[in-house]
Amino acid sequence: MHEHDVIVVGAGGAGLRAAIAAHEHGADVALVTKLHPVRSHTGAAEGGINAALHEEDSWELHAYDTMKGSDYLGDAPAIDTFAKDAPGEVIQLEHWGMPFSREEDGTVSQRPFGGLSFPRTTYAGAETGHHLLHTMYEQVVKRGIEVYDEWYVTNLAVTGHDDPEDRECHGCVAYDIKTGEIAGFRATQGVILATGGPGQVYDHTTNAVANTGDGPAMAYRAGVPLEDMEFVQFHPTTLPSTGVLISEGVRGEGGILYNAEEERFMFEHGYANNEGELASRDVVSRAELTEVNDGRGIEDEYVHLDMRHLGEERILDRLENILHLAEDFEGVDGLEEPMPVKPGQHYEMGGIECNENGETCISGLYAAGECACVSLHGSNRLGGNALPELLVFGARAGRHAASADMAEAEVPTGPSAQSEVGAVDTPVPPGMVEDSDDPVVADGGAVATGDEVLERAVQRERERIETLLERDGINHAEVRADIQETMTENVNVFREEEGLQQALSDIREAREAYRHVGVSDPSRTFNTDLIHTIETRNVIDLAEAITLGALAREEFRGAHWRAQHQQRKDDEWLKHTMLQWNDGSPELYYVPVILEGHEQTYEPKERSY
Ligand code: FUM
Repeated sequence: MHEHDVIVVGAGGAGLRAAIAAHEHGADVALVTKLHPVRSHTGAAEGGINAALHEEDSWELHAYDTMKGSDYLGDAPAIDTFAKDAPGEVIQLEHWGMPFSREEDGTVSQRPFGGLSFPRTTYAGAETGHHLLHTMYEQVVKRGIEVYDEWYVTNLAVTGHDDPEDRECHGCVAYDIKTGEIAGFRATQGVILATGGPGQVYDHTTNAVANTGDGPAMAYRAGVPLEDMEFVQFHPTTLPSTGVLISEGVRGEGGILYNAEEERFMFEHGYANNEGELASRDVVSRAELTEVNDGRGIEDEYVHLDMRHLGEERILDRLENILHLAEDFEGVDGLEEPMPVKPGQHYEMGGIECNENGETCISGLYAAGECACVSLHGSNRLGGNALPELLVFGARAGRHAASADMAEAEVPTGPSAQSEVGAVDTPVPPGMVEDSDDPVVADGGAVATGDEVLERAVQRERERIETLLERDGINHAEVRADIQETMTENVNVFREEEGLQQALSDIREAREAYRHVGVSDPSRTFNTDLIHTIETRNVIDLAEAITLGALAREEFRGAHWRAQHQQRKDDEWLKHTMLQWNDGSPELYYVPVILEGHEQTYEPKERSY
């Protein structure tokens, strides 16, 4: 057994930032991570980091843009905290040596991004996430923070109290990908989940193959509600053949979208008469797909993004990486030709319910970054708000877990007197299949010591992994492909009642099939067959949570478009969708959105760009 004050699970941007903050506040902290830190998916972030740095800008404006972008489903205290803390985080990065792109006078450059009323996106070429990871990893190495890399955390060690709010997290169990050892990691002060998003629920995604939603799935099964999972962001500019991201920075620098008739459709078809290509992502993605569906797409599939007019010098200075991606993955020279682009899954707005200090309703369990839902992004995240989110809330979670002196959070967690019971008609029962041999997560005993809870969790994981290795069953890849296919077909940008019902039926079948998966590779060393099999369980649970939320929410808000419900319904739906695992029979409830912020109360308005 390994023991530390604070265990951070995942070493992308949020995990690294949390670890540094916890260490600065005196904690003995360790990072336990499936990937080496600099291979984390944060490294794929291209465009930038929003922060109000300029004297003509303000945190209030940033907060307002974020609330408007969220389509009034973000919680104001979280948004205000975020916008206030973001400039300090960018300055901190600068002091750590982040190689930001700069103006002639040496000041950090900022460019326009979608949905922003001021050009406030700082960046490092079109490889901002790569530089961010390296800058913070240097700080981790400098501080001597222990990193257990290629250790895959497969479960949490949580007590078994009936009410999840009475449960405590004492650590986690991890599988050493290099040796096959299964070991307990005892956390005496807290476990921070920073495992990233669940992009692998879809087959056309900008996300890395490692993004299987491990943190949200583990927290969900341990009793923490998942919040607002129906809100999935589809980025408007991904390469059609692979899903590789073409940064919004291209449009920020002046790139233009054209349809097959060479019309600048964002203006010419009236999708966003003021902001055009720089409307927020949900608006641009719907516009592109409408063009394709109305017969004005290229090869019935995509539109063109043209940056040739920016000129070679500017492109090489600010967007060089984009040239390489277009060339390598589509064989297109972005200096000479427009690039083919279409919407692709990019980001999950929902996640593990937590507050501004990263605390979940289970004591000792925290979440930060994309796997968490504070709630900052509501129903649509603005481009350039993910990196500051992981810095701001990663740092806050790290500080809190290290017992730093912090103000109480204003965003509540867990059900409260204000919660409203929800119901949704499903074609099949969601959750665990009857007679399932799924291990229950939070059965560590209500009165056991932390070490005992962890030991039981380790034992359960050993048995689960042995069963998978010994079973002569079907391959996980079939099950995962079925999930990805139905989610891409039925729970995409445009959502129909029938499609959502179909997805739930398909997910149920996949859940049943998963009971018969087996791992054909018996090896204990770098057994990717085993790793992907464990991940696929998480993919199933999160696909179901997204679809249940999507079916429940009968309105059109932000990224959630419903054919049968074409209005935003503020009277009925200014509330968060909460899904509780409930020992395998998911329960739906709602909690109200908080529109009262630190300085002002936000009034929902019609959202246009
Ligand atoms: O388009 C991009 O560069 C992505 C940025 C983001 O998702 O924040």
